[in-house]
Amino acid sequence: MSRDEWTAVDEYITDVLVQPDTALVEALNASEAAGLPSINVSPAAGKLLHILARVQGALSVLEIGTLGGYSTIWLARALPPDGRLITLEIDPKHAEVARKNLARAGVADRVEIRLGRALDTLPQLAAEGRGPFDLIFIDADKPSNADYFEWALKLSRCGSVIVIDNVVRSGKVIDASSDDTSVQGVRRLNDVMSREKRVSVTAIQTVGCKGYDGFAVALVLV
Ligand code: SAH
Ligand code: DHB
Ligand code: MG
Repeated sequence: MSRDEWTAVDEYITDVLVQPDTALVEALNASEAAGLPSINVSPAAGKLLHILARVQGALSVLEIGTLGGYSTIWLARALPPDGRLITLEIDPKHAEVARKNLARAGVADRVEIRLGRALDTLPQLAAEGRGPFDLIFIDADKPSNADYFEWALKLSRCGSVIVIDNVVRSGKVIDASSDDTSVQGVRRLNDVMSREKRVSVTAIQTVGCKGYDGFAVALVLV
């Protein structure tokens, strides 16, 4: 099987089952037109995030890494009208594109974009007493994954779910001597999670239109 076949099947699943609406399609078109990298979650993965948030009965969601707001739209649409999503983004241009995409999708009222380094905005959130969040999606710079996970735990409650994207990196994650800082970031994250008694965690490998990667899911136990 090749990436072309994974993509063809992903497109079939997207057409038949995921059925993204115009606002989601336009969010990707607008992101591409603005020159953003095509590193958003796939439509199928976006819908999985949406379903997880619904299963959680989530009222509050935290996302680290907004880009053009594609995953943000999927997550925000899982919230009731009084639900809130905070998404953290370092790049003002990405945030600007996301703002328009979120407005077009009709979820701007539920979403707050916080501009800045997540390692600065996360302590601010904690200091403001924000949280606990019902679901936290970590999808920013991979070298900081372990730090983001520690902050996610601080901003969680018993029953919160933490999802971390891109934990397989085409299989490179098993190379302990990799000089890829993202791979080392995922491995450090896994070290931290493996020693952390307050979570139950697994990871799932995925193939599809984004190639070969995967995501981890952690359930907060205390
Ligand atoms: N969740 C998005 C994709 C996010 S891509 C989706 O699936 O649609 C990763 C994003 O994290 C990029 O927009 C990048 O600018 C942002 N980012 C990178 N380093 C960051 C940091 N230190 N703090 C906050 N955001 C960061
Ligand atoms: C990268 C980041 C992502 O969030 C992703 O889903 C795929 C790739 C990257 O930085 O390469
Ligand atoms: Mg990602």
